[in-house]
Amino acid sequence: MENIKNAMAPVQIVMGSSSDFNIMKAAAHILTELGVEHDVRVLSAHRMASEMLEFGRSAAGTGIRVIIAGAGGAAHLPGMLAAVTTLPVIGVPVSLKNLSGLDSLLSIVQMPGGVPVAAVSIDGAKNAGLLAARILSLGDEGLRKRLENYQTALTETAEKQNEELRSMLENG
Ligand code: RP5
Repeated sequence: MENIKNAMAPVQIVMGSSSDFNIMKAAAHILTELGVEHDVRVLSAHRMASEMLEFGRSAAGTGIRVIIAGAGGAAHLPGMLAAVTTLPVIGVPVSLKNLSGLDSLLSIVQMPGGVPVAAVSIDGAKNAGLLAARILSLGDEGLRKRLENYQTALTETAEKQNEELRSMLENG
């Protein structure tokens, strides 16, 4: 692949088809929000098998730190990448029409011992982005602080919801 050698962003978001992007864009959005450099590409395990293996085999030497791989149906992309790299691979089961993502989930999560994939929930691309950021934050104090701020904002939102709900109930 022409640009693999230059693919130095620490987080790579790969997916089996451009049809997965509607789900996978949530990973890119949260990484952008957190100021984490990332690349996005289609890398099909079935339709681009040689390129996929080349990407996986060379990834550890290019500055890439985490791979987020999303696929639907017979979702082999995360597992095959995990088979040829020592980098952490986060799998996103993308839901398709027929089996609602259960096929994708089982394809990704049921990995054999020795070949780990960290699977998030069906269509859970946002959490995949957050998990990648948490991994990178182990060596990045600024990113750790931004993740703390993100969590604080979540708590504040939930507290505000609680206040609004209680006020609504008390006022009939
Ligand atoms: C999988 O097949 C892809 O990850 C996608 O979720 C699914 C359907 O792909 P398209 O037929 O829409 O390209 O490999």
